[in-house]
Amino acid sequence: MMMNDNQSTERYAVVTGANKGIGFETVRQLAASGVTVLLTARNEKRGTEAVSLLHELGLSKVLYHQLDVLDSQSIQALANFIHTQFGKLDILVNNAGASGVIVDEDGLRALNIDPASWLSGKATNVVQDVIKTTYDTAIECLNTNYYGVKNVTQTLLPLLQHSTSGGRIVNVSSLRGELWRIPNEQIRKELGNLEGLTEEKIDGFVEKFLHDLRNNELEVNGWSKMLPAYSVSKVMLNAYTRVLAKKYPEMCINCVHPGYVDTDLNWHTGTMTLEEGAQGSVMLALLPAGGPSGCYFDRTQVAEF
Ligand SMILES: NC(=O)c1ccc[n+]([C@@H]2O[C@H](COP(=O)([O-])OP(=O)(O)OC[C@H]3O[C@@H](n4cnc5c(N)ncnc54)[C@H](OP(=O)(O)O)[C@@H]3O)[C@@H](O)[C@H]2O)c1
Repeated sequence: MMMNDNQSTERYAVVTGANKGIGFETVRQLAASGVTVLLTARNEKRGTEAVSLLHELGLSKVLYHQLDVLDSQSIQALANFIHTQFGKLDILVNNAGASGVIVDEDGLRALNIDPASWLSGKATNVVQDVIKTTYDTAIECLNTNYYGVKNVTQTLLPLLQHSTSGGRIVNVSSLRGELWRIPNEQIRKELGNLEGLTEEKIDGFVEKFLHDLRNNELEVNGWSKMLPAYSVSKVMLNAYTRVLAKKYPEMCINCVHPGYVDTDLNWHTGTMTLEEGAQGSVMLALLPAGGPSGCYFDRTQVAEF
């Protein structure tokens, strides 16, 4: 489609999993800075209610569109909508996430774990009885946090390439995805070597992890014991971010740990506000031309993968 002048200077963004939590706040901050934002959610009621809240705050440039990152048809419908309505996309924030575990929330509260123990990994052994990873929850987590991001990104890439300001992709990751946390040295080495990294190789690591999970061999093969599927999903998301950034040097493609934020995802154990949690995503979404790409940020600061 042809764009008129207004459309070519206007910036358009998509935020996934934006009906609540960090995604919702990311939409709010982007819209407040003048970007037209598609607030996407898998559930229409939750999504439209979230949009209404933002309209009440005077943020009229927020629109709802359905998006389940596990559903290819839903992803394609979003791409079709952007193509016909805007003709391009400037910003994609891959924010939707799943924890990959089943939690006994009362049991967890009773343990009364302090934030420092969560972050340092000291709580790992203590939580094993109340936070469980099953094969099904692991699959859902990897499909959402890793394959879901890949599918959404692949489908929206042609629209991002039409951005006149150079597309921006922000992959919301986690400190659980930092390489030093993986006990297996060989895995750390291979994933840390950008020269040898390919999408196929990263997919292979995901399959190896699932194989080890099925065979009850996670620990013996040196995968993280803390939130194993979630950690692996974010490790692989970071690696994918680097491969993608190398392939599309004209864009700014980065991943970010939002901080330890008070949301449903961590059963409200987080200590930071949503406003603080969205700052990294928003900064990377609004990077000026020539900004960093292929980097990992701890909130707004560049950090080691
Ligand atoms: N909170 C933290 O401390 C923290 C730390 C590190 C990283 N993160 C990352 O930050 C991101 C946002 O998490 P949050 O803490 O804001 O959690 P949250 O409040 O639980 O939000 C997660 C969002 O993802 C959506 N979602 C899940 N599966 C989806 C799917 N298949 N399709 C579309 N949307 C889906 C959820 O939708 P429903 O409401 O429909 O379930 C919800 O909107 C995640 O990627 C998470 O891993 C958070």
